Amino acid sequence: MYRGGLEDDLDDAAQEFVSSLQSDSEILPFDIAGTEAHVLMLYKSKIIPKADAKKLLSALRDIRTGGFDPMDMNQVFEDGHELLESWVTEKAGKRAGGRIQTARSRNDQVAVAIRMKLRHDTNMIQTGILQLVSALLELAADNTDTTIPLYTHLQHAQAGVLSHYFLAQAGILLRDYERFAGMYERLDSNPLGSGPVGGSSLGIDREITTRLLAFPDMVYNSLDATSSRDHISEFVSCVAIMCVGLSRMAEDLVIWASDEFGFVEIADRSASPSSAMPQKKNPDVLELVRGKAAGVIGDLVSVLAIQKGLASGYGRDLQETKEPAWRAAEVAAGSLHILFEVLTDITINKNRMAQAAESGNITALDVAEELVRHKVPFREAHLEVGKMVAAARRAGKHVLDLTKVEISGACGINPDTVARALSACTVEGSAERRRSSGGTSRQEQERMIRQVEESVGELFGELEEQRNDATANIGKMWQEIDEFLQR
Ligand code: ARG
Repeated sequence: MYRGGLEDDLDDAAQEFVSSLQSDSEILPFDIAGTEAHVLMLYKSKIIPKADAKKLLSALRDIRTGGFDPMDMNQVFEDGHELLESWVTEKAGKRAGGRIQTARSRNDQVAVAIRMKLRHDTNMIQTGILQLVSALLELAADNTDTTIPLYTHLQHAQAGVLSHYFLAQAGILLRDYERFAGMYERLDSNPLGSGPVGGSSLGIDREITTRLLAFPDMVYNSLDATSSRDHISEFVSCVAIMCVGLSRMAEDLVIWASDEFGFVEIADRSASPSSAMPQKKNPDVLELVRGKAAGVIGDLVSVLAIQKGLASGYGRDLQETKEPAWRAAEVAAGSLHILFEVLTDITINKNRMAQAAESGNITALDVAEELVRHKVPFREAHLEVGKMVAAARRAGKHVLDLTKVEISGACGINPDTVARALSACTVEGSAERRRSSGGTSRQEQERMIRQVEESVGELFGELEEQRNDATANIGKMWQEIDEFLQR
């Protein structure tokens, strides 16, 4: 459509190579909305005649409501924008259609569609985060007295309660949420009306499209607006950070579902069989939450590398930032959904968890802290309890079961004091002893549950507003268009 200044048609191979039709299919609905806003603005700013505006808006409404499949078209277009212009021209006629790109370039056109799509995806991801946090909260509330071993280096560290684990995951996810929210503020700004790079001489009013497309603000500088993609870098980095976190949760659950641990069982509807071994119930979905996080890290590297060293002003390289961003968004939403499904239907084997905690010398630090209460310096207590644990291992028993004779053979602290310290410690009572803020005691668990509940409640409210601002306001534009077309 634009080749007036060129002698030949684009060569087939070049056509295929430059085409972004595939990745543009995902922004087409947003491109249509952006175009509707642009046309309405052109009319309101008296740049195009009313009759042509009507033809264009009516064609755009047909396309918007009639559905479209860009893949139906034979690939004679460089991208979705050219395709859209040709669709509109076909419906509205050459004269009206020929006005659609007045005071606009594909550079500001794609920039606004990308921002609208990422706004939509962020709302979806933030919803997924809050849903997953709610599922974690429910599990936490049910498990404030489910004893588990807490691990460091995947070795028994301290006895804890299962709610502590779920609350930790909820806390991580709420930070992911906040990260997306901060990014969203910078994303939510209108680049449309910047032309190819330097604006327009035709008297456009950018305030109008900013309002119609429900942006609280515009990206002011037209060079910045058309050629920056740091919002894509930020979006994908939010996704990557979140997916790395989710991959760790997935790995915990994979380990816990193993025969050796047997802490949890995932529901059949989330499990995969083996094609060979009839007994298998594999957590493939969780392995893929882990595995797909790798792709997202790659996507982040891609979008950063595409922009690195690129001269300012639009360069076609930027087209290549779309696919990694779309893919990252899909993995983010998918991973959140899978973990939600797995967790809402997971079987928790409380006995296995308690047994696992019993089997180690997991109370060793409790014993040392008990000795500190008896005025023993911590380092001395640590060393002496270490010797007792070694003696207990040699005797094939648990440190809490050492006799007085064994105690005095192993350590230099008064055996009566040690015996008293040992008798004060049990595996079941261990978590309750730690009442420090954010510790494992019941009171702290309940406090953290209340805190997270409050945050989630508030955030659901804020998110509802944020989603409404974007979607309901675009609904208003469509209403305005309907009224205009009736007049
Ligand atoms: N398909 C292009 C993209 O996604 C649209 C902008 C093309 N602009 C240009 N000057 N060739 O980035």
